[in-house]
Amino acid sequence: MGDITKGQTTFYSNAEGYWKDVAPTVDGMLGGYGSISNIDLNGSKAFLQKFLGEGEGKTGSACALDCGAGIGRITKRLLLPLFSTVDLVDVTEEFLEQAKTYLAEGGERVGKYHCCGLQDFVPESGRYDVIWIQWVIGHLTDDHLVDFLQRCQKSLRPNGLIVIKDNVSYEGVVPDDVDSSVCRDLDIVHGLVSRAGLSIVHEEQQMDFPKEIYQVHTLALR
Ligand SMILES: C[S@@+](CC[C@H](N)C(=O)[O-])C[C@H]1O[C@@H](n2cnc3c(N)ncnc32)[C@H](O)[C@@H]1O
Repeated sequence: MGDITKGQTTFYSNAEGYWKDVAPTVDGMLGGYGSISNIDLNGSKAFLQKFLGEGEGKTGSACALDCGAGIGRITKRLLLPLFSTVDLVDVTEEFLEQAKTYLAEGGERVGKYHCCGLQDFVPESGRYDVIWIQWVIGHLTDDHLVDFLQRCQKSLRPNGLIVIKDNVSYEGVVPDDVDSSVCRDLDIVHGLVSRAGLSIVHEEQQMDFPKEIYQVHTLALR
């Protein structure tokens, strides 16, 4: 990521500053596009259900991790209905505080709230059936993303799955100076996944999103 990687400290502290000023609401999580949340969650559910269930090779439903969870938008409607326990990790303390209210119903099945940047977070070894990473990889440098994916792999249970769902650019790396993130093209994301030693077992484009926003792709990794 060239220049951005050189200014790593500012890259992270600017992002933290940006998110501290964002309202702890679904609309805040989605940059004003709260109206697409249902389409997003329904698409994710159909995607994830291809892997869950009983039998040989199926992914278990004991425990999931929501990465860059924010107020728990995904935990509430996607993960808690499918997994016995869900842990959350996010760098913004205010969002995790709000999550405790937002997830009040079913909240007894929320496991741990980790307030930590993913670049520093070490998920517990062998704990997770699914690690869901949505709309946050653009906040990590290439090297930190690769390292984080490797740590995630170590924290999977047998037949566990890492899922990345994120914006992809048409070509190259597009920086966003407002929230201090980058948007990578699909080839670049594939390259980073491969550098982490992971394989893509399934990939889909999320359909029915507004035309003016980035394409969103979902990748299942092992
Ligand atoms: C676009 S929001 C997405 C929230 C959630 N994934 C969703 O889809 O509703 C990005 C989230 O990433 C968090 N975040 C930003 N940088 C992060 C980092 N380095 N580590 C962990 N979380 C981060 C923000 O606090 C915010 O909650």
